[in-house]
Amino acid sequence: MGAGCGIAPVMHAAEHHPGPKRFVLGAVTEDELTYIERLRALGPLDVSTDDGSAGYQGYVGDLLEEVLEREDVEGALYFNCGPEVAMAAADRVERRFAPAGDIYHLVERVTSCAIGICGKCSIPNGKRLCIDGPVFTAAEFTPDEYTRDKTGRKIIDPHGSGGPGCKTVV
Ligand code: FES
Repeated sequence: MGAGCGIAPVMHAAEHHPGPKRFVLGAVTEDELTYIERLRALGPLDVSTDDGSAGYQGYVGDLLEEVLEREDVEGALYFNCGPEVAMAAADRVERRFAPAGDIYHLVERVTSCAIGICGKCSIPNGKRLCIDGPVFTAAEFTPDEYTRDKTGRKIIDPHGSGGPGCKTVV
């Protein structure tokens, strides 16, 4: 699953890993769906756009759920990259079809030292993106549990019950 600017890392991973691939990609609008033809050459592909300008109209997590419910996905591994709210939706769906250790999230954080000292890029289990990541399994990382702003401050439940803009900074 790739969403928005997360489509590019998914393409890079797909081009460097053997085996069959299946893509579910989403963006706000058609112009933001990048590398589509390159990815289509690697495997079947479905797209969603929030505004309906291409493919399924709606969120990529909803499209992913439809795809997984109709296809044989036994034994599949999952790779996700995109805005954390989209990865969280994918994570919730994929956990119904695969163990957490078979689900991979490509996580983004702003880094400073990049050698594991400052802790600015740490995730809830204490691992640091700069030296331990940026790829973590769903057993290690749940998207959107909390994120960090550019200064490294924690933002808890960034898209939770209070909706976008409801931020608790610790
Ligand atoms: S950027 Fe400092 S620990 Fe990762």
